[in-house]
Formats: sequence, structure tokens, C-alpha cells
Amino acid sequence: MSIKIDHLSFTMDTKLFPIIGCPMGQSSASYGYNPLFAGNGIDEIMWPVEIPVGALGDFMVAFKTLGMKHFCLTMPHKSAIIPYLDKVDEHSRIFNSVNVVKVGKDGKTVGIGMDGKGNMAAIVNAGVDVHGMDVAILGAGSIVGVILLQMAEHGAKKVTLINRSEERAQKLIETVREYTDMEIAFLPFTNENLDRAAESCDFFMQATPLGLYGFPQDHEYLGFLDHLRPEAVVMENIVNPPLTKFAARARKNGHKLIYGVDMMLGQLGEIFEFCYGFKPAPESMEAARKNVYNYFGFKN
Ligand SMILES: NC(=O)c1ccc[n+]([C@@H]2O[C@H](COP(=O)([O-])OP(=O)(O)OC[C@H]3O[C@@H](n4cnc5c(N)ncnc54)[C@H](OP(=O)(O)O)[C@@H]3O)[C@@H](O)[C@H]2O)c1
Repeated sequence: MSIKIDHLSFTMDTKLFPIIGCPMGQSSASYGYNPLFAGNGIDEIMWPVEIPVGALGDFMVAFKTLGMKHFCLTMPHKSAIIPYLDKVDEHSRIFNSVNVVKVGKDGKTVGIGMDGKGNMAAIVNAGVDVHGMDVAILGAGSIVGVILLQMAEHGAKKVTLINRSEERAQKLIETVREYTDMEIAFLPFTNENLDRAAESCDFFMQATPLGLYGFPQDHEYLGFLDHLRPEAVVMENIVNPPLTKFAARARKNGHKLIYGVDMMLGQLGEIFEFCYGFKPAPESMEAARKNVYNYFGFKN
């Protein structure tokens, strides 16, 4: 017997693939993963599960007891999960961020962070090559370290971090410099510096929660976007809403634009391959993209 509800289809053998976080009311990931499972013969369903801070130990017991094989994680558990896992790759440990866990053939739990790879997959999928580019990134939070490593791996010439806290940005730069000799500069978060960075960059990335659904603040100044050269690429990392004020202004100015939803979809492909050992069929990726875009009522 197969039961179909909305975008979910399952049998009595279907395994649960939870995505855990807190809160989870706005979680959209399952709208992308479930069409991907359905389109690749994977008998699992993703379900958002709210796990409060401090309850990860209980969750891990339930995960193992119920025989689940995979789970995804979002805020605030991406670093707190690490002590509960048997194996975590070096970069995810250094940048303290894991967002998918699988049970390996040996029964051990293996965690990895896909923010960097997912971000770069979105850039590559948009047909953009960062090789030789001068990149400006607004923000120096948890996703930026791994994004810098991907920028270096893909040959970006220079990255300028613009951030409110200099200490946080410098600490990140110090860590990343142990892995790459790509040029990385810092600018304090001021309107003048935003203008300056915009004037000289080939690629401007927004990596703060300013404008995120439920976040109390948005950008006070977006005039820097008018200083970008017309051919500059712009990327917004926020998923919800898909069209932030930042993205809307860049779109109005005619820039090639990569959305946070695209980064989420980029991660989806990487996470699928990590879990199942093969790339999802392109038509299933397209079905996932359409489902996520429909969920948001988003037209690109
Ligand atoms: N598309 C996806 O799949 C995906 C995946 C992960 C994350 N994201 C999004 O990416 C963004 C960054 O995530 P993250 O995990 O790196 O966040 P994070 O660790 O919380 O870092 C936040 C960054 O934003 C800055 N910031 C926060 N509030 C600010 C304010 N009021 N004014 C100026 N700067 C402010 C912080 O500056 P300070 O250092 O000064 O505090 C920090 O650099 C978030 O919007 C998140 O939703 C998207």
C-alpha cells in the first residue's frame, strides 16, 4: 500500500529522514528532498522535527533505536552535534558546522558540513566561474569559512570580508589562511566601505541574516548595490524570503543573481550524493527546484 499526501509518498517500509532544528515552523527543505527521493528510487521521506536545545542526546538515542540512516540539521544544532558523532571531516570540525549525518556501512555515524559545497554548487549551476574574480562577502559567520575555502579551491583571486565585528572576521581569516594562500582582506561594516568594495568587485555575496524572515533587522543601506559594475554577479544566501530587499535591488539593477534557494538546492544535490553515493537524476533536481519555488510562490 502506498499513501500519498501532498508532496509525500510512502509505503510501510519507508524510513524517516528527519531534518532537525529549532524552531522548524518555516522549514522548506523537505519540499526539495522528497521529490529527489521519489525521483531516484529512495524509500525515505524527509520530515522536519523540532528538537530543542539540550535534547540532542535524546534525539541520537531515538535516531539509533528507530533504525534511521540519515538526518539533516539546521540552526542551532550544527556545532552542538559534533561530540555525538563517531566521525567528522577536518573542515567541518574546524568551522564547527555539520549539517548532514549518515550511518556508515560499519554502523558509525559520519557528519559533514555542506554549506561551502552547496554554496559553490549554486554558483557553478548558475554558470558562474569565480576563477580570477575579486569577491566581496558581507558577513563572517558560520558559513563564511567554508565558503572561503571553496572560493580558494575554485581559483578566486581575492576575497574581501566586510563585517560588523572585526575580531570575528580576523579570527576567521587567520583560520582560513592555514589552508590557502588566496588573498583575503577585511573592511569594517560602514556604508563607505560597502561602496568601495562594490566598485571594485566582480562578485558580491550577502551572508548575514539581515532581511531573513523573523530576524528583527534588515539592511539600513543598500545604495552600495548601485556602485557595482553591470557585469558583477550578486548572491544572496537567505532562503526565506527568496526575494529579500537586497536581492530585489540587485535584480532591479539587472545583475546576474544567485538566490539563497539555489544554495539550498545546491546543498541538496551534495547531501544526496553523500548519503547515497550517486548523483541525483537531473530531472529529479528540476522537480525539487520547482517544488521549492512553488512552496515559496517564487518565480525567477
Ligand atoms: N541558503 C542556504 O542553504 C543557507 C545555509 C546556511 C545559512 N544560510 C543563511 O546565510 C546567512 C549567514 O548564516 P551564518 O550561519 O553564517 O550566520 P551567523 O553565523 O549567525 O553569522 C551572521 C553574520 O551576520 C552578521 N550580522 C548579524 N546581525 C547583524 C546586524 N544586525 N548587522 C550587521 N551584521 C550582522 C554577523 O556579524 P558579527 O560577526 O558582527 O556578529 C555575522 O557576520 C543567514 O542569513 C542564513 O540564513 C543560508
